[in-house]
Amino acid sequence: MSLPAPTPRVAIIVVAAGSGTRLGEPLPKAFVDLDGRSILSRSLDPVFGLSEPAQIIVVAPSTHAAEARDIVGRAAGHASDACTVVVGGDSRQASVAAGLAVLEPSVEVVLVHDAARALAPRSLFERVVAAVDSSARGAIPGLAVSDTIKRVDATSTVLETVDRSQLSAVQTPQAFPRAELVAAYAAADREFTDDAALIQHVGGSVAIVAGDPLAFKITTPWDLRRAAQLLTEGSSSGRPQASGPAFRTGVGVDAHAFDDGQPLWIAGLFWPGEAGLAGHSDGDAVAHALCDALLSAAGLADIGGIFGVDDPRLEGAHAEVFLVETLRLLHDSGFAPLNASVQLVGNRPRFAPRKAEAQERLTALLGCPVSVSATTTDSLGFTGRGEGIAAIATALIAPLPRPTAGAGA
Ligand code: CTP
Ligand code: MG
Repeated sequence: MSLPAPTPRVAIIVVAAGSGTRLGEPLPKAFVDLDGRSILSRSLDPVFGLSEPAQIIVVAPSTHAAEARDIVGRAAGHASDACTVVVGGDSRQASVAAGLAVLEPSVEVVLVHDAARALAPRSLFERVVAAVDSSARGAIPGLAVSDTIKRVDATSTVLETVDRSQLSAVQTPQAFPRAELVAAYAAADREFTDDAALIQHVGGSVAIVAGDPLAFKITTPWDLRRAAQLLTEGSSSGRPQASGPAFRTGVGVDAHAFDDGQPLWIAGLFWPGEAGLAGHSDGDAVAHALCDALLSAAGLADIGGIFGVDDPRLEGAHAEVFLVETLRLLHDSGFAPLNASVQLVGNRPRFAPRKAEAQERLTALLGCPVSVSATTTDSLGFTGRGEGIAAIATALIAPLPRPTAGAGA
């Protein structure tokens, strides 16, 4: 029986044609072993876990095209018709261009992903596709920069401290509307280190979505060792296991008084026409309670201790600033959230109409399911009298993966 021709809406170009000079292995980087399977094979796991069928294009070095075909064939199983292997070029940009040349006509959204980011989770792929779908412009994952960054001159003299609140460390997969990416590549007159830079060079606009610490790029031998450690600490997904004794829960509570002079930001959303909340930041009690639930689950300091109440950089800061940093601290402590739940307590705003939107926003920021509910207190207490909003959150977290010998083939 012959199947209908595939008409995928999404394509994922996995660039794997680099030599891996900095890794210093005899093989090209994508073919180097990572805990029993090649880096390329690992990088395909999330791709084949996507619910939406996609065209998969793997860009391989000419010396290893046959091996890439084997790896892709094994990873694809029954979905091998959705996959193409092409030979890359001398630069990453040339390799991406080789991938773009074989897009199916039906493809509308293109993701470009470094095979070297072998532990990037599936949620990151889903997040960038959702962002392109909702905004019709490029979307790339980025993480807040936690180190203090200095600008230096050629003599290594420090010139200035760069405002890190304006910086984002970007990752892949990067997603773009197909037409825009293809046009940018056609117009490219020099090399860029990522696709977003090329899009911007030709005047396009790109948004940052929450990145994931697991999407780090394997560049050096240390990175490879670290990736192996993360994998052998758990399943090949690189995610915490939904079993075992090490789950931890946390609880968080926050409250803010109404302030008519402020805009309302709650649950990561802007609520036009509603009285805002007093606070040094935007007063988003839902986001703050979530942070405290996650931090307490990991045994870390609470939100006041971590962010401070008078840091000028946090003036008016919205949910993503707090949640992305909390997630980073959690990962640094060896944990990842499995789910979180938060209840808003207050008379206003009327929450039900935007419940789904709030859940989607918070889920995207934390990379785990977040459920949000709302209640009133029968006219009792400060929430009942309409003086402010409270929020109560719980979170379940688990350690990042622990060793299981000989995972994968
Ligand atoms: N890449 C590619 N074609 C190239 C160069 C890079 O497909 N000519 C891919 C790599 O395989 C990798 C991704 O682009 O998945 C990011 O590049 P990088 O981490 O720099 O990998 P390499 O170029 O292989 O490593 P190095 O720079 O250390 O040589
Ligand atoms: Mg390189």
